[in-house]
Amino acid sequence: MMMMMMMMMWRSVTVLMMIVVNNRSAAETSLTIRTVRPCERLTEIPSNISSNTRCLEVMQTQIRVFPSGAVTSLQLLRKLTILENEMLESIGEFAFANLPRLSDIIISENIALESIGAYAFFNLPELSEITITKSKHLTSIHPDAFRDIVKLQYLTISNTGLLFFPDFTKIHSAAPDFLFDLQENNHIARVPSNAFRGLCTQTIMEIRLTRNGIKEVASDAFNGTKMHRLSLRGNQQLTHINPNAFVGSSELVVLDICHTNLSSLPDSILGGLRTLIAESTEQLKELPSLHLFTKLHQARLTYPSHCCAFQNIHRNRSRWNPLCSQPKAQDNFNFFRDHCLNSTSITCSPMPDEFNPCEDIMSYVPLRVLIWIISVLALLGNGVVLLVLLGSISKLTVPRFLMCHLAFADLCMGVYLAVIATVDMPTRGEYYNHAIDWQMGLGCRAAGFITVFASELSVFTLTAITLERWHTITNALRLDRKIRLRHACIVMTAGWIFSSLAALLPTVRVSSYSKVSICLPMDVESPEAQVYVVSLLLLNILAFFCVCGCYMSIYLTVRNPSSMPAHADTRVAKRMAVLIFTDFICMAPIPFFAISAALKRPLITVSESKLLLVLFYPINSCSNPFLYAFFNRTFRRDFFLLAAHFGLFKTRAQIYRTESSSCQ
Ligand SMILES: *[C@@H]1O[C@H](CO)[C@@H](O)[C@H](O)[C@H]1NC(C)=O
Ligand SMILES: *[C@@H]1O[C@H](CO)[C@@H](O)[C@H](O)[C@H]1NC(C)=O
Ligand SMILES: *[C@@H]1O[C@H](CO)[C@@H](O)[C@H](O)[C@H]1NC(C)=O
Ligand SMILES: *[C@@H]1O[C@H](CO)[C@@H](O)[C@H](O)[C@H]1NC(C)=O
Ligand SMILES: *[C@@H]1O[C@H](CO)[C@@H](O)[C@H](O)[C@H]1NC(C)=O
Repeated sequence: MMMMMMMMMWRSVTVLMMIVVNNRSAAETSLTIRTVRPCERLTEIPSNISSNTRCLEVMQTQIRVFPSGAVTSLQLLRKLTILENEMLESIGEFAFANLPRLSDIIISENIALESIGAYAFFNLPELSEITITKSKHLTSIHPDAFRDIVKLQYLTISNTGLLFFPDFTKIHSAAPDFLFDLQENNHIARVPSNAFRGLCTQTIMEIRLTRNGIKEVASDAFNGTKMHRLSLRGNQQLTHINPNAFVGSSELVVLDICHTNLSSLPDSILGGLRTLIAESTEQLKELPSLHLFTKLHQARLTYPSHCCAFQNIHRNRSRWNPLCSQPKAQDNFNFFRDHCLNSTSITCSPMPDEFNPCEDIMSYVPLRVLIWIISVLALLGNGVVLLVLLGSISKLTVPRFLMCHLAFADLCMGVYLAVIATVDMPTRGEYYNHAIDWQMGLGCRAAGFITVFASELSVFTLTAITLERWHTITNALRLDRKIRLRHACIVMTAGWIFSSLAALLPTVRVSSYSKVSICLPMDVESPEAQVYVVSLLLLNILAFFCVCGCYMSIYLTVRNPSSMPAHADTRVAKRMAVLIFTDFICMAPIPFFAISAALKRPLITVSESKLLLVLFYPINSCSNPFLYAFFNRTFRRDFFLLAAHFGLFKTRAQIYRTESSSCQ
């Protein structure tokens, strides 16, 4: 009956309003004001709404301004919703002030809303929830808009165009478990000083400042604020939190900085943190000093290497409380967690994987020493060989030309080892903090390039040298078939191009040098990477068989007296056989283990492979100078002649000079 009457009443003002009596209690009246057809315009709040109304929805009207005192007469009003009013531009001063029963206000999807006036939310003793969302044009909220809302418990402002952090300092809420939610306000760039002082006198359960445009958190931003959880998640441009931002704040236990651009954290809060969530925080490459995290239980981080830091941390267990022995202690979860759990370990994710074990680049002391010895030997030996070969006056023959290339490749290997050893030195004991910068950086890519280039060029040159010997010996009597320098040049150009390409591929996303600390292309995630690694290794094995075949053939030729090869050539071939077999035998374990790893059936761990790397991989780089050059008479002669040029070993040089002249 009453419903019928009211229906007629509203129709008389040409606007259809729907009135729904709340089923739960006859006394509670709920009212929706809305324009149904476009031609029927409701341009202001009707003044004769029943003063019994408990629930008011102002929806899809054509109202431009929500005036002050418009709903003051509704003293019983509990819930007010202002929704989808496309013309609404402003909410006036005192718009919702002085409503003693009001507990919820929802202002949403008013696309034209630009401002909220002073004292709009004033003296609302029962108000516990304010939601202001989805108003892209809302750029200003008056500093005095929120005042004295003592029971406020949820405050949500999201999806607005606010330009500045609104003033919440006069709310003076005393509600427990306050939840503050400021989300997706793209233009809020800064959290100012004292932003939350006066918001709530109790511990704020959570402050969510997620996915705003925040770039900076000012000094003293959280002054006077007790909060349990703080989320700055999704502020992609947030690069800086002032070291003093948390001065005057307390009780922060959970901090979430996922998807931000932060590179450091203020030291002062770390001591209280139990949970740190920092996933996809790529710039946080270096963790703060570990002893600052005295209470940390859980860390969800971006980089596996950081979890290494927490693995071996052992903390005092002084928190154990005698009350824990009582059976009821388990019921109170917080108490139990804080005082009874003896475990001091920290749950950390992502855990280090098999490619990035928690260790330094060179984890064992012998390795650390060996890598230096081997790299210095390789650098010195090959440096001298190169100098002598290039500086000597003898005619450049094809074998000498090839040997130059071999020495150069081996010198590169020495450079690579020296780089790895040099990076290992300062990062010793805390590689986890440098892992990201090193492995993702240019240095690792350069080192990886050098080593792959060096090993491929080395294998290629060895094969070329063998083929040249084989050709010379089997065609000893046919001068027309002699290999000329011109041919050697073409072959070595091909070798350089091949080695450079092989070394370049991992820098263009086919496999990657960043996977392991020693910068080898161990990434076999994608099929292309697998094909790349396996084919590289297969080529090396092919080269080995080619060399074996050549030596077999040379051996048969030499044994056959009818062929009568030149005496010198045979000697050279013998020496080189020794050399090449040592090389390949040293290298053999590597393709074996590497192919198994490339097929994702690793037989050894990355730590063990480092041993292989240091002991086997570069051994030919060290031994080649000796096998090829220093044990070679011609080379020794060249060496002493060159040295004599600089005034050294004069007598030795004289001996060689007389010898060579007497031979001729
Ligand atoms: C208020 O309601 C009365 C009928 O009860 C109606 O005549 C009057 O026009 C209404 N006033 C306004 C401003 O809508
Ligand atoms: C921090 O808050 C206290 C009161 O809680 C105030 O006295 C002090 O001036 C504030 N500090 C700054 C730097 O604003
Ligand atoms: C993140 O910070 C780095 C420097 O710390 C800067 O170069 C980069 O542009 C920043 N990114 C964004 C999205 O602000
Ligand atoms: C606990 O820490 C204090 C200093 O922080 C130290 O003096 C004490 O020896 C530690 N106790 C144990 C059992 O580690
Ligand atoms: C924790 O340690 C105390 C003594 O240090 C021991 O009495 C207690 O049983 C331990 N509690 C658990 C859950 O291990």
